[in-house]
Amino acid sequence: MRSLRNRLAFLFFAITLASIGVLYLYIAPQLESRLRDEKITQLREAAQKTVFEVAQVAGTIVPTARLEQVVRQTGDHANARLTLMRVNTIGGEPQPETVSDSASGAAALDPQIAADAARSGRTETGSQATSAGPLAVVAMPIRQDRRVTFVALYSTPTSDVEGNVAVVRGQILIAGALALALAVLAGWLVARALAQRVKRLEQAAEQVAAGDFSRPIPVDSDDELGQLARAFNDMQRQLAQLDRARKQFIATASHELRTPLFSLGGFVELLEDEELDEETRRRFLVQVRMQVERLRKLTVDLLDLSRLEAGSLELRPEPVDLSELASAVSSEFEPVLAQRDAHLEVRLTSRPVEALCDPVRVAQIMRILIDNALTHSPAGTDIVVSATRDDGYARLAVRDHGGGIERHALSQIFEPFYTSNDTQGSGLGLAIASELAERMRGRLGVESRPGRTVFTLELPA
Ligand SMILES: Nc1ncnc2c1ncn2[C@@H]1O[C@H](COP(=O)(O)OP(=O)(O)OP(=O)(O)O)[C@@H](O)[C@H]1O
Ligand SMILES: [Mg+2]
Repeated sequence: MRSLRNRLAFLFFAITLASIGVLYLYIAPQLESRLRDEKITQLREAAQKTVFEVAQVAGTIVPTARLEQVVRQTGDHANARLTLMRVNTIGGEPQPETVSDSASGAAALDPQIAADAARSGRTETGSQATSAGPLAVVAMPIRQDRRVTFVALYSTPTSDVEGNVAVVRGQILIAGALALALAVLAGWLVARALAQRVKRLEQAAEQVAAGDFSRPIPVDSDDELGQLARAFNDMQRQLAQLDRARKQFIATASHELRTPLFSLGGFVELLEDEELDEETRRRFLVQVRMQVERLRKLTVDLLDLSRLEAGSLELRPEPVDLSELASAVSSEFEPVLAQRDAHLEVRLTSRPVEALCDPVRVAQIMRILIDNALTHSPAGTDIVVSATRDDGYARLAVRDHGGGIERHALSQIFEPFYTSNDTQGSGLGLAIASELAERMRGRLGVESRPGRTVFTLELPA
């Protein structure tokens, strides 16, 4: 019962069985009573058409043989047994008594219906069980001087109705058994086809789980399973892309780490030479310090980025005045600015610019942007930092007047390790900054043309 195949086959079986049960237990009895009613209606119509024949002779003085002949003929015309009963009234109660019977010698009829017809003066119908089988009975009152003096009792056997219904019941059972067998077979086949398709999906999922993204599932229909297969193929494609990106990331990261390490190794070897003059030794040491600094920044950046991508970097959003933050971070750059002969201006509005963000992380983004403005522009550049607020957003912009970013590079600068190689950077700065902005429900955008590059950090206010 645990397989889809068996469950579906059982469901088909149960539904068919229920339909047959309804046919057999509800429709067949209804059919039987409908047929019996039909029989009574027919008998009643025949009685209405023929009763005058017997009414003409009933109560008149005719020889018994003649009376019996009329009764027999009338019965024949109505295609039924006709029993003529006289109504005697004893103690105010009508007591019908048989005068003549077209089927003399047949089982006696219950005089109750005849008594009812005599009492009501209307045609009465009913059915009656006799030793010869069930009968449909119609009692027609015959009046003389406004008094019901006779009742013509028409009766006809209804055993054929039961016979017919029994045949129908038999047919229902035979057809039902066939339908059940078909339903189970159909259910089993349909379920088997479905199960095979589900199995294919399962095998494909196992392949993907084992790291094989090469074989997509063939999409052979537009139904739900086809859609599932299509969604699965999309997922497989995305996973393959992620997998490629991950491998590329690891390759690039290890390459980036290896370069300064090799360079460090080389300098250390050179420094071991005891005949080295003081001046050269100092130059080498400066190089060593630079490579160590590069390694330190790279490892910190890599750690930040991997934590951001894994979602494990915890942010603490709070209302922050961006103007204050911009001034504080800008002042950190005073020594570097002096070194590069650059000028940094902080433009602030008179009112505080409040945003909901993590101040430590916004400061990190600002350092990345100001550092870029300094390192990717010629010495002596002008940098403008401004904080503004409108339509529900706080915006922090860093503008420089350097050479700008080439159009084709604009879509790539936010990718990890993209760098223009004009400096010793590793290309992680903007990747980290844009991830951080998104984690704070903000956005980092860029506009650039020669002589003017603006990075704008947009944060919810
Ligand atoms: N203000 C800018 N002016 C011109 N080019 C820029 C500017 N900011 C970024 N870029 C370009 O975008 C690239 C990516 O910047 P990103 O900060 O991610 O890496 P990086 O500065 O090269 O290295 P690092 O990881 O050390 O910051 C840079 O290499 C540079 O080509
Ligand atoms: Mg940078």
